Amino acid sequence: MKIQSLRGMPDLFPEDLDRWHVFESKLSKIFHSFNAHEIRTPLLESTELFSRSVGNSSDIVNKELYSFLDRNEESISLRPEGSASVIRAIIQKKQEQEKHKLWYQGPMFRYERPQQGRFRQFHQVGVEYLGFEEGISEYELISMVLQINKLIGISDYKIKINHLGDQLAKEDFCNALVTFLQPHVNELHEKDQARLKSNPLRVLDSKEKSTQALLKEGPQFQDFLSDDSKSFLQNLIDAYSDHCDIQIDQSLVRGLDYYTGIVFEAVSEELGAQDAFLGGGRYDNLSKELGGKDMHAIGFAIGVERIIELLGIEDIKQSLKVGFIIVGEQIDKKTYKIADDLRSANSSIILDTFLNEGSLKSQLRRANKNNCSYVIIVGEEELKNDQVIWKDLVAGGEQELLTSKEAIEKYTNL
Ligand code: HAM
Repeated sequence: MKIQSLRGMPDLFPEDLDRWHVFESKLSKIFHSFNAHEIRTPLLESTELFSRSVGNSSDIVNKELYSFLDRNEESISLRPEGSASVIRAIIQKKQEQEKHKLWYQGPMFRYERPQQGRFRQFHQVGVEYLGFEEGISEYELISMVLQINKLIGISDYKIKINHLGDQLAKEDFCNALVTFLQPHVNELHEKDQARLKSNPLRVLDSKEKSTQALLKEGPQFQDFLSDDSKSFLQNLIDAYSDHCDIQIDQSLVRGLDYYTGIVFEAVSEELGAQDAFLGGGRYDNLSKELGGKDMHAIGFAIGVERIIELLGIEDIKQSLKVGFIIVGEQIDKKTYKIADDLRSANSSIILDTFLNEGSLKSQLRRANKNNCSYVIIVGEEELKNDQVIWKDLVAGGEQELLTSKEAIEKYTNL
């Protein structure tokens, strides 16, 4: 029987990755301009890291973690997200009192039910600002989100934003919500009943219409927020409402337990049911929860598979491509040296070498199919005179005989 990839863990082929590369190169420019630096943490961490950060009652830890015992009988897990590992790394390096502007990228793992836009291995690019209290850093991150969307050509999106208050406000609201929902527990869908028990705030995220109708009658988050938090949220929205569609969404609590303060998501209708292509917020308590010193923290992560769907196809510009055709069986040591010299002379051009791939005619056909603008042909006769044939595939197939030195010069100036 043939071995298949695991469900929800797709391969990424060159034709998929062309789009990824455009995205990655644009993003690295943005991070550079914000003076954010890359951090790389391991894919595997102790399971406790995630149960103490993302939260035992969250779906991510409860049902979706890839956990197993290692050879030492220790429970380890594939990371479901990046923030917990970044905080762990900073605590381990005893750098909680410094300021950090960090970004990361890589695969994340969640045992979810795969569907369009939802995978078990997916990729995130994340940003974490550490050591910055509530204030300008919220503005800077929303500004970064807008810049990213602009640079990669996404215009049709909405930012949903909410303020979860401090830990106390969050707990007070949570208690009020439970008190309100308890008498209606039998009217709730089975899923929402389970959420009410394990993580009541998640009921706000319910997709059930009847639950949403009931919640309208219940306590509202805004009423538990301090005036400072309310005006901070409103000012933030006012600052960006001319530049994008940014709106308060009181049901936005996010699926990870560590948030307090501002939370946000960017959504696009083009993505269908899994419409969030980015999400984040403030999580000032996490460092303490993980045994570190107090450290302010705020960040977001982009779902790469989802944002790639939104990337304009016209963005993908091919570099100039030149075919390199060797004719004849006899490989003289000089033959390949020419290709080597060409690449050293101009590395921005793609030199598409045809390695023993049939007759001259079929190799030329291949060069046309591969969108080569020119081909350089090295035949046995030409090689004796240190010459090559330069053929222009775009301008009607004209060709000329050049010395290899002339060819290299021409290639350098393409
Ligand atoms: P998250 O909302 O769980 O947040 O994930 C961020 C983004 O990752 C989502 O908006 C979505 O685009 C993508 N994503 C999540 N799960 C999947 C999946 N199964 N398949 C495809 N894409 C997915 C976090 O992970 C937080 N660590 C973000 C953060 C950083 N908060 C503060 N700093």
